[in-house]
Amino acid sequence: MNHATQKKTGDFGKQVQTMFSSIAPCYDFLNALLSLGRDRYWRKCAIDTLAPQPGGRFLDLATGTCDLAIEIASRKAKGIRVVGGDFSLPMLRLGKEKLDAKNLHSNICLHASCAEQIPFADEAFHGIVTAFGIRNFSDPELALNEMRRVLKPGGRIVVLEFSPPPYPVFRNIFAFYFQRLLPWIGAWVSGHKNAYSYLPQSVGEFPYGERFAKILESAGFKNISYNTLTLGIVTIYAGYKIG
Ligand SMILES: C[S@@+](CC[C@H](N)C(=O)[O-])C[C@H]1O[C@@H](n2cnc3c(N)ncnc32)[C@H](O)[C@@H]1O
Repeated sequence: MNHATQKKTGDFGKQVQTMFSSIAPCYDFLNALLSLGRDRYWRKCAIDTLAPQPGGRFLDLATGTCDLAIEIASRKAKGIRVVGGDFSLPMLRLGKEKLDAKNLHSNICLHASCAEQIPFADEAFHGIVTAFGIRNFSDPELALNEMRRVLKPGGRIVVLEFSPPPYPVFRNIFAFYFQRLLPWIGAWVSGHKNAYSYLPQSVGEFPYGERFAKILESAGFKNISYNTLTLGIVTIYAGYKIG
């Protein structure tokens, strides 16, 4: 099977961009509803793992509506600067409204960016985070190389992604919810027929756990670690660029 970190062919990237742009208006609402509010906790844990230091410059790649970028900026570490990059302008527009409301424009700037060609100089960032983004990239390995390129030596990469829960009974209950109920609720609320069927499908193809740790290692990251949250529904991966 063409797993979720292999290069996709055809106009996969364009389709993903169109899909996220069309669900943007209900993206935050559905995130909160479908995760029963756990998404905020997962992002908070991802930024705990990133551990942003004062004066640091960070990239939230595939920022969507900017929740992770806002979480970084809200850490109160002095002089932090965050770039939120995404290729969906409707998502970024909604993110901008949040920055306006929270008066965060001096800490966060938004950039229309493609993960496979990050529009920043080598070694521009002290840390990079991407949440629920990597399995959607049309060339995840190229995107990881790009992330490594724009990271400073000693900088940290953090990836937050869904994973299948390891406990047999819960795994079955979750599979029923994730593969049957969620696509139905998502389609009903968003009015988009495929986006919330694509979600469990792309998660099912994602090489979670040790397999993704090895992919990070092959992309040149070191000291890889990962840990699961909420009975294994999501996993946070972390690694460093050394040298
Ligand atoms: C599931 S959303 C995650 C958004 C946000 N990180 C969050 O935690 O809610 C995935 C985001 O990845 C973006 N995306 C997907 N592929 C991308 C690519 N190749 N380059 C840039 N952004 C991409 C989509 O536009 C979308 O906003």
